[in-house]
Amino acid sequence: MSAPATPNSEKLYARAREVMPGGNTRTTVYRKPHQIYAWRGDGCRITDVDCHVRIDALGNFTSLIHGYGNRRILEAATRQLEAGTCFGMPTESEIRLSEILCERLPSVEQLRYTNSGTEAVMNAIKAARAYTGRPKIAKCEGAYHGTYDPAETSQDASPATWGDIDRPGSVPTAKGTPQGVLDDVVVIPFNNTPVAEAILRASGNSLAAVLVDVMPNRAGLVPAKPEYLAMLRRVTRELGALLILDEVITFRLGYNGAQGRFDIDPDFTTLGKIIGGGFAIGAVGGRAEVMSVFDPSKGQPAVPHGGTFSANPMSMSAGIAALEELTPAAFEKLEALGDRFDQGIRACFARHGIKGQVTGLGSLRRVHLTDAPLSDYRSTFAADGAARVLALAKTLFDEGVIIAGNGLMAFSTAMEDADIDEIVRAFDRALLPFA
Ligand SMILES: Cc1ncc(COP(=O)(O)O)c(C=O)c1O
Repeated sequence: MSAPATPNSEKLYARAREVMPGGNTRTTVYRKPHQIYAWRGDGCRITDVDCHVRIDALGNFTSLIHGYGNRRILEAATRQLEAGTCFGMPTESEIRLSEILCERLPSVEQLRYTNSGTEAVMNAIKAARAYTGRPKIAKCEGAYHGTYDPAETSQDASPATWGDIDRPGSVPTAKGTPQGVLDDVVVIPFNNTPVAEAILRASGNSLAAVLVDVMPNRAGLVPAKPEYLAMLRRVTRELGALLILDEVITFRLGYNGAQGRFDIDPDFTTLGKIIGGGFAIGAVGGRAEVMSVFDPSKGQPAVPHGGTFSANPMSMSAGIAALEELTPAAFEKLEALGDRFDQGIRACFARHGIKGQVTGLGSLRRVHLTDAPLSDYRSTFAADGAARVLALAKTLFDEGVIIAGNGLMAFSTAMEDADIDEIVRAFDRALLPFA
């Protein structure tokens, strides 16, 4: 199918280029030759400003677990909108959202809120440094944790920069990142237990924390091996370092989050995306003892944390409604949708004789155009052919389905089996040139 005409988007983009660098304010949604502007969302569909309707199989990069226009979220947000969007005072809504999250997340006794996952990760890192009195943070090569300098280190490493697997380099993402920042980031390979353990032990008593996502999207959306997570927990304890579990995306893997599904007991957990019900949010939580670094009740806290819109009641109220809608039955539905997609796409690959595979779990899936074994960032990088997956995502867009440029998809409770089947049919058409 050729790309549908988009004159209204073109006009908007011409205006945008005058007032924003590259006409864009969010690199992740930039597309050539021009951006396509959304007009409205309904259920699992987005209508653009030229009235083209597409199934949204990405949900604002995994954040809209109930799609658009969920009745309960709408009512909660509307009530709050009328009562006031933000105050220079706390509201009861932040307590209620915390109660729900603490009840669901086994390792979390207390929380604080931010406006994004990036800030949540930043605060967890600062808290870990303050708690341990140590400077270094370890993170997995290729994993995305937002745009705080240490957290984004090596997220885009390439064969030209990543160095030996036994000691991956700390590769800056933004030009101008100070060498001092890079020196305090210890990069470990994901899912390579002996090598990661050796690297962590070499950092000894300068390590404040290990930051890990159990299924890092950019590193392939491959689940962590149980022995890898067990090693991270054991070694951090032995070294006196903390374990930060980034659940900004993976909290949607189950009623008790990724930590429930993977049976892992982190010191800090970072959250974002779905816990705001479609509004801007982030959160850092953990045991009361480690969270005490934020406590202002005994004087200046070890980590002062504020934020004009932190815990704003719009995000809190919508988040409460979103989580109340996320019942065990909702998770069962999401699992079934993910499995249905898996089966459908595998059949497409077989029908076309395409070497492809799907990684991920539950409502999170990533399509790869390779049958090479994927275990970490380097194997995904080497095998994937990012350009081919991007081309597939572009064709799917024209076929009426939105997925991320790297093949990531996130299903929502607003979808039914028929929507998944429609997505699979679009893949069937879009995959033809790859056969
Ligand atoms: C695992 C992970 N951590 C942190 C972030 C940063 O969240 P935000 O985009 O809300 O700053 C993201 C964003 O995609 C993420 O995927």
